[in-house]
Amino acid sequence: MTTTKNYDIKDVRLAEAGRRRIEWASREMPVVKLIRERFAREKPLSGIKISACLHITTETANLALALKEGGASAILCASNPLSTQDDAAAALVEYGIPTNAIKGEDQKTYYKHINTALDQGPHITVDDGADLVSTLHTERSELISNVIGGSEETTTGVIRLRSMARAGDLKYPIIAVNDARTKYLFDNRYGTGQSTIDGITRATNILWAGKKVVICGYGWCGHGIAIRAKGLGAQVIITEVEPVRALEAVMDGYQVMPLTEAARVGDIFITIAGNKNVIDKTHFEAMKDEAILANSGHFNVEINIPALEEMSSDKQPVRPFVERYTLKDGKRLYLLGEGRLINLAAAEGHPASVMDMSFANQALCMEYIVKSKGKLKPNVYPVPEEIDKQVARLKLDSMGINIDSLTAEQDRYLNSWREGT
Ligand SMILES: NC(=O)c1ccc[n+]([C@@H]2O[C@H](COP(=O)([O-])OP(=O)(O)OC[C@H]3O[C@@H](n4cnc5c(N)ncnc54)[C@H](O)[C@@H]3O)[C@@H](O)[C@H]2O)c1
Repeated sequence: MTTTKNYDIKDVRLAEAGRRRIEWASREMPVVKLIRERFAREKPLSGIKISACLHITTETANLALALKEGGASAILCASNPLSTQDDAAAALVEYGIPTNAIKGEDQKTYYKHINTALDQGPHITVDDGADLVSTLHTERSELISNVIGGSEETTTGVIRLRSMARAGDLKYPIIAVNDARTKYLFDNRYGTGQSTIDGITRATNILWAGKKVVICGYGWCGHGIAIRAKGLGAQVIITEVEPVRALEAVMDGYQVMPLTEAARVGDIFITIAGNKNVIDKTHFEAMKDEAILANSGHFNVEINIPALEEMSSDKQPVRPFVERYTLKDGKRLYLLGEGRLINLAAAEGHPASVMDMSFANQALCMEYIVKSKGKLKPNVYPVPEEIDKQVARLKLDSMGINIDSLTAEQDRYLNSWREGT
């Protein structure tokens, strides 16, 4: 393990492998590449210190390289103890981007890494889940006066930040990158959809066809996982607490029922609700022998693991990322990836092509934060519509796809109330 003042990674010798995979990911990140080239010419982030708490993956590395080209000095730390790709972390350090992340790090190291990223006194924070922002506000508040603004990558982080803003506790403006259409419609849906199935498949090598797959939460991520599981031949059951989304799931062709009922029939359970104790003691009690449990929501609180531990007489690893809990009545339940987001714990997270759009939004929002310095009050802001549309246009361009534009007559029609039948 290499430890110095501002980086901490598993092994710097992994850098070469990481560099090759970062270059491979860049093939599928044409929009970030275009932004990186422009940033290299224009240096819009010149002199800006960025502290970024993100999943340390090859895609994140491509974002970090774009920020560096733009003139920023960025320090990275992991946004989840299990999501780090150690080779990508090593390559980042070699590229001159201090990175603090080791796959499997404990809670203490995780927060030590966040603190190291904050040590530089950032002008901009980039967060995925709001652990960096909450640490900054609670333990490092002396650094806040230096901060111009921040951005947040995921649904759970945006929910936490809105609650901070409502309580009057948020001290600087933050852009909710998650809420850009070019983010959640693609990253949350197609990215989480594909990579969650990938993570569970890599961990277990199960056949999906014919399995009863219970998905808890039918948000954008839940939509994506459901459609991919269905495509593989699974029988999908959705559980929800929100009536409109439950109705949507029914009309999308899935079975919808309370989790207490689904618990009795499911072969595989996937939580993706962004909520706590979604699968709880009563559900474990109702489950079949050998049911599989996985989470893809941001934090490892969606499956009540302390309750599962308490109900169990034995816990054994069976293969990487699979632990067998034997309950006191002899029933066996398999928990994947310690209940942490399975797509990053057991697979490689989202494919680069969707992270291209999410991270294009991140890079453009950082430029926007610098340009808006002093103009935005502390609050959570949407991604400006123009950035969202620009990302979509660039992505379509990169795919060689042209679309129509409104005629002057159509534009007038859409902006006028005078014409009817
Ligand atoms: N694994 C990843 O790579 C990845 C990627 C993007 C988002 N996320 C995370 O996934 C989670 C979901 O994100 P999203 O964008 O789909 O959110 P969302 O808000 O669109 O959807 C969440 C859904 O869960 C439902 N829900 C809440 N509590 C529930 C309960 N007890 N039982 C059943 N349903 C319940 C809500 O009604 C909502 O429809 C968040 O934690 C987000 O941060 C993970």
